[in-house]
Amino acid sequence: MCGIVGYIGKADAASVLISGLKRLEYRGYDSAGLAVIDGDDIVVSKTPGKVAALRDRTRAEWSADRLSRPGIGIAHTRWATHGPPTEANAHPHLDQSGDIALVHNGIIENYRPLRARLEAKGHVFRSDTDTEVLAHLIGDCCKGDLFQAVCDALHQVEGTFGIAVMSAREPGKVITARRGSPILIGVGDGETLIASDASAILSHTQRVIYLDDNDIAVVTADSVDVRDLHNVPVTREIAELEFDGSAAEKGGFEHFMLKEIHEQPECLANATRGRLDHDLGSSVLAGMGTSPRELAELERVVMVGCGTSLHAALVGEYAFEDIADIHAEVHQAAEFRYRNPILGSRDFVVAISQSGETADTLAAVREARQKGAFVMSLCNVVGSTIARETGRGVYLHAGPEISVASTKAFTCQVAVLLMMALKLGRGRRYSREDGGRLAREIARIPELAAEVVRQSEHIAAIAAGYLKDEHAFFIGRGPMYPVALEGALKLKEISYIHAEGYHAAELKHGPIALLTQGTPVIAVACDIPGKDKTLGNVEECRARGARILGIITEGDDEAAEYMDESITVPRAHPLVATIPAVVALQLFAYHVARLRGCEIDQPRNLAKSVTVE
Ligand code: G6P
Repeated sequence: MCGIVGYIGKADAASVLISGLKRLEYRGYDSAGLAVIDGDDIVVSKTPGKVAALRDRTRAEWSADRLSRPGIGIAHTRWATHGPPTEANAHPHLDQSGDIALVHNGIIENYRPLRARLEAKGHVFRSDTDTEVLAHLIGDCCKGDLFQAVCDALHQVEGTFGIAVMSAREPGKVITARRGSPILIGVGDGETLIASDASAILSHTQRVIYLDDNDIAVVTADSVDVRDLHNVPVTREIAELEFDGSAAEKGGFEHFMLKEIHEQPECLANATRGRLDHDLGSSVLAGMGTSPRELAELERVVMVGCGTSLHAALVGEYAFEDIADIHAEVHQAAEFRYRNPILGSRDFVVAISQSGETADTLAAVREARQKGAFVMSLCNVVGSTIARETGRGVYLHAGPEISVASTKAFTCQVAVLLMMALKLGRGRRYSREDGGRLAREIARIPELAAEVVRQSEHIAAIAAGYLKDEHAFFIGRGPMYPVALEGALKLKEISYIHAEGYHAAELKHGPIALLTQGTPVIAVACDIPGKDKTLGNVEECRARGARILGIITEGDDEAAEYMDESITVPRAHPLVATIPAVVALQLFAYHVARLRGCEIDQPRNLAKSVTVE
């Protein structure tokens, strides 16, 4: 979603900001802009479209002197919420005087009454955005002290924000603040950076300060002063980040998505390494932070997430009930707090989020904590808001995921959920023998994924037959039902083919009306309990002329006979088998999208991390 970069230091601000924005491109956006202080003025350059267009425009319109001036600036990639992706709506926005510039992530919910009040005082607005209202409000509050003005303005706004503000009247500083939208400050050598995402600043420094909600900081080239919104100093530690430069490169692959699909064997090895105890037939997940007694006393696992993470949770639901013998349920995170969930001290709430920043999942975490549940997270991004707020959790170790469509995070989420279920199961009813068997199966996961990745060319050849289709149905049952949902999500996200996932039995309760001659049905019919029923549902589809692509178990000739064509995946434990099955569907979606000439890594309208409700 929207991205923020700020810079203050010795280098030329414009080029630091543009390269920072480039690193944020993966998050998804539709316009970009930057502002620097040049002499007594703030100068702004903005454009709809890509950061490359912003770079070209800035180079064409700004003097060499301005472009190379050391100093201070703020920049933004915007994912449109209030108003279309036009130049006028792009950030930064200026206040009425033109002396104050602001970039903002999040949503100012009460922007309408604020705007009306300011208009009554003579303010003139040039955009449709809530952000411009905040810029004007700060200007309106400013009586010669930018910090105080930002505090005063933020006391009046409802909603969420991560902001960076600067003023031509106070040129040595940037003010940054957050509520519900991440901000981190990179502490460099004679330079300081501000960003909504560490990837924007990692090439400058690995030393970062994370702001908490309602923190506001005054940042200069060599100091960071963090306070709360009442101007009381607060202490925030400097954290050291790891920098893996290769994660930001495609490494010879045509797209990040393909690279990340191919990385899965290695990521899954990292996610499971040192976490399986084959002697005890259990797993070692110290981050869960629960004693064996607490685990034994749990009554329910409640998982929350959105998008792909929600689908991982649905696989987890089968795992917890089957392996750990504990009641498990899954909630779409956006709905969780509004339905007033019944929770207590024996509920284990697991927030699943690749980015650790999804606004709805974060809100669900807060609701669960409020109600006294055990809350833990399963995040990929180290130091993300959800990981920090839950305090306990298990990191995925999948490495940075750049492609908007999530792949390696999903398979690592499932692998970690299986290990959690194993740990819970061993604390309850699961025997050492059963645990040992499952631990051995989990240890096979990296190789199972590798076997499917090696079929990429074969899957590409199959995908070539689906380029003209505008609709597709994915079906499965048992743990393969969420796999079907995820397969459909991948296909629609990146190829723009309308794809729906259904429980194999549900198809005949409505969607089957849409099947006509040649409609693609992708049946996830691996050889696990329930397969025969799925094959029966495949027959129902065939009888209506559907064209069936099967995801089936290697050597399952019986299943192959039901299909027009098949992709085979290795035989494995029914829950473990979800991982190779989904890798096959990731590759199918990828190749269909590639052959259709789609953009893939940054699909239209989508954002990597959804930080608004
Ligand atoms: C966005 C992304 C999805 C992701 C979802 C949840 O919609 O495009 O790929 O699954 O957010 O994100 P999270 O970071 O919480 O897993």
